[in-house]
Amino acid sequence: MELCVALDLPTKEENLALVEKIKDYDVWIKVGFRSFIRDGKGFIQAIKAINPDFKIFLDLKLYDIPNTMADAAESIMDLGVDMFNVHASAGKVAMQTVMQRLQKYEKRPLVLAVTALTSFDEENFKAIYNQDIASKADQFAKDTYEAGMDGVVCSAFESKSIKNITSEKFSTLCPGIRPFGEDAGDQKRVADITTAQTQQVDFIVVGRPIYQAENPTLIVEQILSHI
Ligand code: C5P
Repeated sequence: MELCVALDLPTKEENLALVEKIKDYDVWIKVGFRSFIRDGKGFIQAIKAINPDFKIFLDLKLYDIPNTMADAAESIMDLGVDMFNVHASAGKVAMQTVMQRLQKYEKRPLVLAVTALTSFDEENFKAIYNQDIASKADQFAKDTYEAGMDGVVCSAFESKSIKNITSEKFSTLCPGIRPFGEDAGDQKRVADITTAQTQQVDFIVVGRPIYQAENPTLIVEQILSHI
């Protein structure tokens, strides 16, 4: 299991200060909407300048018509990131189009699709998808697998079931992780590290429990010693 640290601090300087603190650890770095919209490609380069071995997950959750998503995926190729994601609810055709477009590259990032956001509870989810989270997440995961993507973003509670219906090698990346039972914030379906391990999760994403801690480095160390 690998740890992905979410850089969700308010400014570029604060995010880079966190990266500097954890530069000697074997972790992935997650760059989300806010930073990327504001700080762009230069931000990715600044992270790599601190440690070129950091793997970067660009969490933009693409959702659009197939051709526009594939165009965006090609632009992502120029950024030198190691993983990016789309929304599975954009549909199987959109996901296939993205993967077909990336076929011409010798090396490409891992591409994952979001099943159900971990901030949804059953009621909110049903209002949009008219189905319960577990069965819809399974269906999204099957579509993602059949479209040739590398894995899904899901809650830790769905990871094992998704692997059972796709493949052991199909990656699961799970946000909503509160490693040692910290405050959930706006997340509804949170899990601790033990649950993530039982559920065979490949990547855990941790944001607030690390960057809001008094000593983020210590929390990273504690997480890494458990996984
Ligand atoms: O602070 P916290 O650990 O809740 O951060 C989780 C991170 O994972 C945030 O950056 C959030 O945008 C992201 N994320 C998520 N749920 C998803 C996909 C991404 O919480 N389904």
